[in-house]
Amino acid sequence: MKIAILPGDGIGPEIVAQAVRVLEKLKAEGLPLQLDTAPLGGAAYDQYGDPYPEVTQKLAREADAILLGAVGGPQYDGLPRDMRPERGLLRIRKDLGLFANLRPAILYPELAGASTLKPEVVSGLDIMIVRELTGDIYFGQPRGIHVNEAGEREGFNTMRYSESEIRRIAKVAFDIAQKRQGKVCSVDKANVLECTEFWKEIVTDVAKDYPAVQLSHMYVDNAAMQLVRAPKQFDVIVTGNIFGDILSDEASMLTGSIGMLPSASLDANNKGLYEPCHGSAPDIAGKNLANPLATILSAAMMLRYTFNREDAAQRIETAVKTVLQKGYRTADIYESGCEKVSCSGMGDAVVAAL
Ligand code: NAD
Ligand code: IPM
Ligand code: MN
Repeated sequence: MKIAILPGDGIGPEIVAQAVRVLEKLKAEGLPLQLDTAPLGGAAYDQYGDPYPEVTQKLAREADAILLGAVGGPQYDGLPRDMRPERGLLRIRKDLGLFANLRPAILYPELAGASTLKPEVVSGLDIMIVRELTGDIYFGQPRGIHVNEAGEREGFNTMRYSESEIRRIAKVAFDIAQKRQGKVCSVDKANVLECTEFWKEIVTDVAKDYPAVQLSHMYVDNAAMQLVRAPKQFDVIVTGNIFGDILSDEASMLTGSIGMLPSASLDANNKGLYEPCHGSAPDIAGKNLANPLATILSAAMMLRYTFNREDAAQRIETAVKTVLQKGYRTADIYESGCEKVSCSGMGDAVVAAL
C-alpha cells in the first residue's frame, strides 16, 4: 500500500501529521503501508519554484493513494496564476484523472449542538455529494483577462462539459446511490446555462440504466436553500465542479464544522487522492488549533475506496466516534461541558481510541 503524503501549506502539515500517526498505528499492527512525503502547493513553490514539481509528480503517479492536507496562503496570492498553490492542486487532480470527488456530509450525533442549524434539522444527516472534479469552468477554455472589442479590460471563463465527462460522473453517483437510499438529486442551472441543460439531459439518460434509483433535478440556487431548510431530503447529490465546490462547503456546516468533512477524489480504477474539504486556514495556521478529524476521516476513506479495507476504515471511524462521545473537541466544534483539545491533542485521543 504505497501512499504519498503531501502536507501542503498552512494547517496542512499539522492536520496531516495527526492522520499519519493514525496510519502509523495501523502499520505497527501489521497493515503493509509505505508512506513517502513530498511538497505540493506553496511549500513546493518555495522549494522548487513549481507548485507541482517533478519529484511530487513522480511520487504521486507511483503511489496507490495520496493523502493531502491543504494548499494556499495569502503570501502566494500575488504570484502569476500558474505558480499559485491552488494551480498545483488542480494540476495533480487533472494529471491523475481524479474526476470523481466524493464529499460525505455526515452528522455525528454528539455534534448536533455544534451545527449552527437546529438539532432536529440536522440529526441523522447522511448526504453524499458527488462533485465532478476535472471539468467545468475550472478547466474550460478559453479563459483569461484581456482587452475586449470596446477597448475595455474584461475577465472571462468558459463552462464546458463533454458527454463522456457527464456520463462517467453520473454513473459514479448512481452506483453509490444503489448502495444507499437509492436517491440521486442532480443539481444544475439548466434554466440559464446551456452547459448544465446538457448535463441534465445526459444524467437523465444515464438514469435509464438504473431503474431502482430515483432521479430528481434541482436548480443550484434552490439546492443551496434546501440544504439549510431541510437537508435530510437528500441522499446523493451529483453536480459539476463549481456547484459542488460551493455546496460542499455549505453542507459542511450541517455537520458542525468544515473541519469534519473528508473527501476522496477517484480515478476510474479507484486510485485516489484523499483530503479534507477545507483549505489551509491561514488564520489559525501554526497554532495547533485546527481540527484534524476531516483529514483522519479522509485516511479512513482511503482504506475503504483504494485499498478495499472496510475493516480498517471502520476502525478509524469508530475511533473518531469514540473521542467525540468522550467529549474531546477542537475549538471549531467546542461546546461548554466538553474538553477542549488542540490539533495534536485530538490526534492523541484518536490514536488512544484506536
Ligand atoms: P479555509 O477552508 O482555509 O478556511 C475557512 C474558515 O474555516 C477559516 O476560518 C478557517 O480557520 C476555518 N477552518 C478550515 N479548516 C479548519 C479546520 N480543520 N479546523 C478548524 N477550522 C478550520 O478557506 P479560505 O480561508 O477561503 O482559504 C484559505 C486558503 O486555502 C486559500 O489560499 C485557498 O485557496 C485555500 N484552499 C485550499 C483548499 C485545498 O487545498 N483543498 C480548499 C479550500 C481553500
Ligand atoms: C477545494 C478547494 C479547491 C477547489 C481550490 C483550492 C482549488 O476549494 O478543494 O474545495 O476549488 O476545488
Ligand atoms: Mn472548496
